Amino acid sequence: MSKLLIKNIKGLVGILENNSAPLKGKELGKLETIEDAFLAVEDGRISMYGKMQDLAGITDWSDLEVIDAEGKYVLPAFCDSHSHLVFAKTREEEFVDRIKGLSYEEIGKKGGGILNSARKLADMSEVQLVEDALKRLELIKSTGTGAIEIKSGYGLSTEAELKMLRVIKTLKEKSDVSIKATFLGAHAFPTEYKDNQDGYVDLLINEMLPKIAAENLAEYIDVFCERNYFTAEQTDRILEAGVKAGLKPKIHVNQFSVMGGISVGVKHNAVSVDHLEELSDEDVAVLKNAKTIATALPSCSFFLSIPYTPIRKLIDNNVACALATDYNPGSTPSGNMLFVNSLACIKMKMTPEEAINATTINGAYAMELGDELGSITVGKKANLIITKTMPSLDYLAYSFGENVVERTILS
Ligand code: NIG
Ligand code: FE
Repeated sequence: MSKLLIKNIKGLVGILENNSAPLKGKELGKLETIEDAFLAVEDGRISMYGKMQDLAGITDWSDLEVIDAEGKYVLPAFCDSHSHLVFAKTREEEFVDRIKGLSYEEIGKKGGGILNSARKLADMSEVQLVEDALKRLELIKSTGTGAIEIKSGYGLSTEAELKMLRVIKTLKEKSDVSIKATFLGAHAFPTEYKDNQDGYVDLLINEMLPKIAAENLAEYIDVFCERNYFTAEQTDRILEAGVKAGLKPKIHVNQFSVMGGISVGVKHNAVSVDHLEELSDEDVAVLKNAKTIATALPSCSFFLSIPYTPIRKLIDNNVACALATDYNPGSTPSGNMLFVNSLACIKMKMTPEEAINATTINGAYAMELGDELGSITVGKKANLIITKTMPSLDYLAYSFGENVVERTILS
């Protein structure tokens, strides 16, 4: 039996017992912490924690690895519930085009953007995609991520979508980061279906979905519900078929416009609706009465210079909120959850406590991993961050751009 003891912890953060749902409203701002603490792990599970003065309870010191965390904080590892981490090439040329005045949407209309990534992915082997994605997983681990959702969506043909999902399946086998897979065939219309959009929706429903379900390649179904992409009606059709095939919805919606997609997501019991940079009062009212989690992606707003999700409005209306990176080559070339914490506080006026809960326990729920991950709870998987020496917990979000993570432990 492998045993680990972390002792002299300056602050053990994110303790949560008897919890079974994402944190909402005032609860989101509560982050239980024990100062001068210890944490014990047995066989990869949290077995005990408490004040250092109560450590005498541990009697069996054989085969015990001990880490001294004096001056350091221990937190649950981040749970990044929205990413496009599998891709073929980065897109710096579009970044420069945007600096010179083109918008993200204009680049997309010209055949750049998602279609650009799809052309590049078609030419890359599965082996190469896995190798590159594994490097990205190591990188995000170094900034504290222990679980991530990864989408397809740069395939846009049956063959290439299946290739992406098989890559994600291999990553699940090869990486110690916990991974959930999402089918995002409805990310953009491929050029050959430009004038036959419903033909592509048919292909997605009648050809792609059955193959994905048969091979058990995805847990979730996603649609980019947005002007110039998929309408609310098309989203409705795709989600209905996805649910029938055993997948649960997690959708891209309200990034640039309000199109009624949030109600469609909620109608199909979406686990989460993501982006929400644009939000109407009706949308807030729909979410208020729903189980669906609202996920904001502040690094995308930062990189594209678009509005930030009005997350205070959502929190104050008792909507469960999570924060994720959206790591992808076009709108968010960063998988850094520490930066997400900083942006949430600086740009969206979340408190550091709210941001940590939204990137840990609520992120876990947005991947249906809330019973397993996202908090310091006896019996949960010991996916942990040990920080560098920090003057206070607030320093984590305050020191934007600094990597305060000394070590990410994944079980
Ligand atoms: O979440 N908005 C749609 N999809 C991604 C970006 C995809 C891309 O530009 O490659 C997003 O921002
Ligand atoms: Fe995205």
